[in-house]
Amino acid sequence: MKKIFIIANWKSNKSTLEAENWLQEISNFQSIRQAQDKFPISNEKEVIICPPFTLLSTLKTYIDEKRLPFKLGGQDVSPFGAGAYTGEINAEQIKEFADYAIIGHSERRNNFGETDELHGKKVKLALEAELTPIYCIQNENTHVPEGVSLVAYEPPTAIGTGNPDTPENAERVAGEVMKKYTLVKAVIYGGSVTSENVHNFISMPSVDGVLIGGASLDPRKFAQIIQNS
Ligand code: PGA
Repeated sequence: MKKIFIIANWKSNKSTLEAENWLQEISNFQSIRQAQDKFPISNEKEVIICPPFTLLSTLKTYIDEKRLPFKLGGQDVSPFGAGAYTGEINAEQIKEFADYAIIGHSERRNNFGETDELHGKKVKLALEAELTPIYCIQNENTHVPEGVSLVAYEPPTAIGTGNPDTPENAERVAGEVMKKYTLVKAVIYGGSVTSENVHNFISMPSVDGVLIGGASLDPRKFAQIIQNS
């Protein structure tokens, strides 16, 4: 059986109290409770939460204390190391809390003018800090930097619109990416994933999981997605 990545991207959402409530609520689901003490949630599923940087510490403490079957990721990485880079969070700092980092999300490209070149620098520093990049591509033509093993295909028209791509097209893109980049080990799909459609995506042979924005903010919806995967 293939391994499935279920990745929550909270984007710029949630206060500390809201995050604590989310953790408390999701811990009450039977499927999560049963997986406590066992990590990962099962050999086939890796669940990764990517909260804002301000919440990484809160989530790590809670997850460690309650032995919840979740890993953590940052939503971005500085293209610089430690030093005089006001406002940036570098890869080594993220590594204190997390094992993964989203890089190249299309909201970074569209709202902050980020380029392939900048994303290449971020990937390099993430890998040096032993963070696994979750590298976002908009289509099969987006360049994937050297060293990336986990790719998220997220067509911009599907992000936050309620209008997901078809599982068949996600399969096609995943297949092309795997063919083009032999170091890529997994391709996941993101864009308007819900508990209703998640299974259609992950049942595609080359789609190895999902990246979830909106639906991950609600613990009930997210637990249902984990259950249905
Ligand atoms: P969405 O976002 O699930 O709200 O469409 C996905 C993403 O941007 O990662």
